[in-house]
Amino acid sequence: MKVSMHNHTTLSDGSNAPEEIIKGAIDRGFTHFAITDHVCTLGYEEHSLDPTRYDEYIKEIRKLSEKYKNKIKLSVGIESEYYMEKKAFVSDISSVRDKLDFIVGSVHAVYKNDKPYAVDELCSSFRNVIKEIYKDNVKELVEDYFYNYNSMLLDLKPEVAGHIDLIKKNNIDGIFFDEYSNWFKDMVENTLDNIKKIDAVMELNTGGASKHGLRNMYPSEYILSRAYEKGIRMTMSSDAHTLEMLDCLYETGLQRIRKAGYTEIYAFDSEKKEFIPFEV
Ligand SMILES: [Fe+2]
Repeated sequence: MKVSMHNHTTLSDGSNAPEEIIKGAIDRGFTHFAITDHVCTLGYEEHSLDPTRYDEYIKEIRKLSEKYKNKIKLSVGIESEYYMEKKAFVSDISSVRDKLDFIVGSVHAVYKNDKPYAVDELCSSFRNVIKEIYKDNVKELVEDYFYNYNSMLLDLKPEVAGHIDLIKKNNIDGIFFDEYSNWFKDMVENTLDNIKKIDAVMELNTGGASKHGLRNMYPSEYILSRAYEKGIRMTMSSDAHTLEMLDCLYETGLQRIRKAGYTEIYAFDSEKKEFIPFEV
């Protein structure tokens, strides 16, 4: 079994058409694979799904799922966004929720003074947000990120918890905050408790690491160990935006899951329509 439950195509910000990335996944031996393009978000319309065509998107992936059913178990989802009280910034997917196999619940931005600010763009712009918008109060920014993430968990109740510590992306060598401080760990604990509460599967996301190095594998190893202790189920996600990203660092990710104590991970079974465990 080889699994990736979070991947993108040209229908949002990926570089490959759905069929191309699916064929790539088959070539690399994936057995369980999901297309989870980005929900339409204000300011990112060019890089997200067309909100008037969610049904078409699902139909297109279902058609490919049928076409390749003897080669791969393919599912279809959407990756979320969330802006605290400003839900209007993100298009409503409730009408297609039941047609999707699952949602990958993610947050890529904080919301402050009536505006969203991405936390996963260039380090220079992250620094600028800390300085100009948060007046150097980086703890407040991290709090906003986790508040947003936890609101998303409890509101959307996604089946998959996406890159939970994305906020660390630009925190190279801890230049902005201490990821091992008690206050940061407390926010992580609270997030893990909510993942457990809604019974979501948490992803080990190799996408960031394939582009920016191992420190950008999500979540960090100590978070994985805590997730194991709390009995949170795990899955694997390439978060592929290109063919090259498909199984880059897959084995390393799996090793980290095992090191944390896990002996099984979960994958969505498109026939049984549920997440099923298998040994790793
Ligand atoms: Fe994402």
